Amino acid sequence: MRMTNRLAVLAAVTTLAIGGAAGCAKEDKGGTTDTGVALIKSGSLTTCTHLPYAPFQSKDSSGKVVGFDVALIDLVATKLSVKQEIVDTPFEGIKSGADLNSGKCDVAAAGMTITDERKKVLDFSDPYFDATQALATQTGKEVKTLEELAGKRLGVQGGTTGEDYINTQVKEKSLKIEVVSYKDLAALQQALATNQVVAAVNDLPVWNEYIKANPGKVVVAAGFDTGEQYGFAVKKGNAELLKAVNEALAAARTDGTYDKIYAEWIGAKPAA
Ligand code: ARG
Repeated sequence: MRMTNRLAVLAAVTTLAIGGAAGCAKEDKGGTTDTGVALIKSGSLTTCTHLPYAPFQSKDSSGKVVGFDVALIDLVATKLSVKQEIVDTPFEGIKSGADLNSGKCDVAAAGMTITDERKKVLDFSDPYFDATQALATQTGKEVKTLEELAGKRLGVQGGTTGEDYINTQVKEKSLKIEVVSYKDLAALQQALATNQVVAAVNDLPVWNEYIKANPGKVVVAAGFDTGEQYGFAVKKGNAELLKAVNEALAAARTDGTYDKIYAEWIGAKPAA
């Protein structure tokens, strides 16, 4: 199985090397860690994510990608004695499994909700974070219900569970909302800040982080308890890597590292 995959990757690499003689391509052909986990690039655990999605993943002032997910996957990398390398790529290719299947990365860590649909194309780790959806507006322009948004523009982030939730509500309740989909979180937040939309839906921790960074501008006006859980994902069938991810998560939960990382990136834990 692993051999077949590697041959497929090799074939792809060879095809891409325009006019190059076979064998001359400099591409890394991957490697296997001492722990027997196959990786697409030797010495690295390559992570696909979609930036920005603070506090889970975003660039700090020096351009380094940091966040809750980054810190947790660093634990997996350490366990495998390799370094995490992060690839920023649209969410669509992450959630569809395309990026993992094509060997763009070993693992996906993108504040990604575990859903039945995604489970068909990805293998998810144990859940590592609980989330809900939230409706944000500018301060002083609060809207408490979706019904109040009739005839108005509501922003969502393309390909996300927030977008799915809103589209389902609009359909089920025949709401006359103009739903506008943005390609990433930055575009959505910009749209809200510049009155392109009167409200915007995304995962609650992401709004909390935005409010921390831009005090007084935006408020969470309403919440939708969607009961979501985030999972890291690997290519379907990559049981060795999935095991390493789950073991690193479990160890972090036991030894207090998870709580430390949670406190650093998310803040105080809600009462259980
Ligand atoms: N939790 C939501 C979902 O899974 C949003 C994730 C968006 N993540 C990102 N890194 N852009 O659909």
